[in-house]
Amino acid sequence: MTSIQAATYLIHFNEKGYTELASLIRTNNYSSLFILVDDNTFTDCYPRFIELLETDKKIEVIQIEAGEVHKNIETCVGVWNAMTELGADRKSLLITLGGGVITDLGGFVASTFKRGIDFVNIPTTLLSMVDASVGGKTGVDLGVLKNQIGLFANPELIVLDPEYLQTLSPREIRSGTAEIIKYGMTHDSHLFKEIKDNPKLNIVDLIHRSIEIKNEVVLEDPKEHGVRKALNWGHTIGHGIESYFLESAHKENLTHGEAIAIGIICEAYLSSKVLNFPSDKLKEAKKAIIAIYGKVAILDDDIPHIMELMKHDKKNIGGEINFVLLNDYSDFKINCTVDSQLIIDSIAYYNS
Ligand code: GLY
Repeated sequence: MTSIQAATYLIHFNEKGYTELASLIRTNNYSSLFILVDDNTFTDCYPRFIELLETDKKIEVIQIEAGEVHKNIETCVGVWNAMTELGADRKSLLITLGGGVITDLGGFVASTFKRGIDFVNIPTTLLSMVDASVGGKTGVDLGVLKNQIGLFANPELIVLDPEYLQTLSPREIRSGTAEIIKYGMTHDSHLFKEIKDNPKLNIVDLIHRSIEIKNEVVLEDPKEHGVRKALNWGHTIGHGIESYFLESAHKENLTHGEAIAIGIICEAYLSSKVLNFPSDKLKEAKKAIIAIYGKVAILDDDIPHIMELMKHDKKNIGGEINFVLLNDYSDFKINCTVDSQLIIDSIAYYNS
């Protein structure tokens, strides 16, 4: 599998990733290695990683609790304290081994510790492989508001080892699939068609194509002033729903991808009302997405809370909720605003 050149770093697949990581560690002569894991990746992924890592450097493992609720500044303080107590210095390397919480939070911790130390991402979930670990976004949530605190910082290297996918539940694989659907609808209708029509695809090919798409977009617009906003397709309503389910004691949490899948259906509906997204494609997308994710009830009483949370979306400007919408597959328009009633209607369309 060919490596992918990002702005300042490479994404290497399979064994090559470990060879390149060993070479990076030798070349930079890091003083020590810190490996950030969570409860799950310590048990399920760390044994493989440590077996494949070739180094004689001092290694320290820092473990945090798994889950989006721990993606906050308090967890960062815990990691910064642990690194300080364990003697991390400016020549230390932080290796993040985990899903989106670990790669986002770890990148943020590294790039702010002593004004910034190097880090390497080793994504272990599909979501993190195709999206979170690539493109330089790092950060944490503020309460239930997603990714409100953070900065852009690139890793030195990404090791993409699909073997870690074996440790995931089908639900976690479905969560990552929502981001692949996003790339398909916004940039490559062939990719969307493949997912829709053929559930037995080669996952490594899908990951490679998804990263290629994301990388091209990020190279063009690294700080999300323009076209990178398209990668938020489904996320404006999706993040509102995800945050609402996270804060509501009476709701079972949704995975990120489950929430984004709902957001994609709602935003496809908006696209059909505000732009020219064809109604047959709207129906096709809804059918395909519900076939993968099933349906979650969103009650009328939930909608005002979800709308309130959407007001905090990072794309918003001047208090207006800002959407990426589609004229058609691979034909997006950024900075769209829509009437609040249409947003309510879009959720009713999802429920229908
Ligand atoms: N997850 C969207 C982006 O990285 O731009």
